Amino acid sequence: MFDPKGPSLAELAKQAFSSTNDGYDLLAPKFDLTPFRTPDDLLDQIAPYLGAPGSAADGLDLCTGTGAAMRILHPVCTTSATGIDRSQGMLDVARTRSLPGPADLRWVQADAMDALPAESVDVVTCFGAHGHILRPQQQPFANNIFSALRPGGRYVCLTADRPTPLNPAWWLARSFNAVMHARNAVRRPPFIMFYLLFTTERATDVLTTAGFDVAIDRDVLSRPYRSLHVLTATKPPK
Ligand SMILES: C[S@@+](CC[C@H](N)C(=O)[O-])C[C@H]1O[C@@H](n2cnc3c(N)ncnc32)[C@H](O)[C@@H]1O
Repeated sequence: MFDPKGPSLAELAKQAFSSTNDGYDLLAPKFDLTPFRTPDDLLDQIAPYLGAPGSAADGLDLCTGTGAAMRILHPVCTTSATGIDRSQGMLDVARTRSLPGPADLRWVQADAMDALPAESVDVVTCFGAHGHILRPQQQPFANNIFSALRPGGRYVCLTADRPTPLNPAWWLARSFNAVMHARNAVRRPPFIMFYLLFTTERATDVLTTAGFDVAIDRDVLSRPYRSLHVLTATKPPK
């Protein structure tokens, strides 16, 4: 559907009709050929926000999938870079990556909502996955990241402003969400994936409430990513 070697429409439908986890397990072998994977040219533009090479000891990429963002996180770290994901299938693909650098590369099957060890990392990232975290989970998610970071550490992610109904993106997102709600009403377990959940305004709100200083960098990404902003949430130094 997206790439001749990527998943077909029938395969995507089958994945959407399974649970969030089973769906990603099924999609994993072809995930890197879909637009759901954060593209390398976008990640390259975000890399400077993670810090200079070797400037952090430990890094963590939440909802790492096949580990796309680990390529830019790993060089920043001197001790460890850990990718966490719930899907075993996605992690199996991620484990085939070899990344040069001194930091230990670790892949852990876990839920991003699980409590993380306190003050254990210097940089946390999460890309392409905020749509899997429902509104009531957003504040605990932000609090968990805050507690996992050492003082002065940062959380880096992407956000977008909420489009108005005059923007076709609003209608696309609303239509997708309506289909997901309908699917989840008739089929269990649910597939949790919704748009417009972690907008710039909402992300700033929950991360500030968690205790972060939040900076939004707008108009720093090239086309076709101009509508995305880089959000850097810094845990105040002690
Ligand atoms: C669209 S993919 C993004 C993968 C990768 N971060 C990227 O940018 O290419 C979303 C990933 O989030 C994972 N995921 C969703 N909810 C999760 C949760 N609560 N805990 C851990 N992983 C989760 C899925 O298994 C999937 O691999």
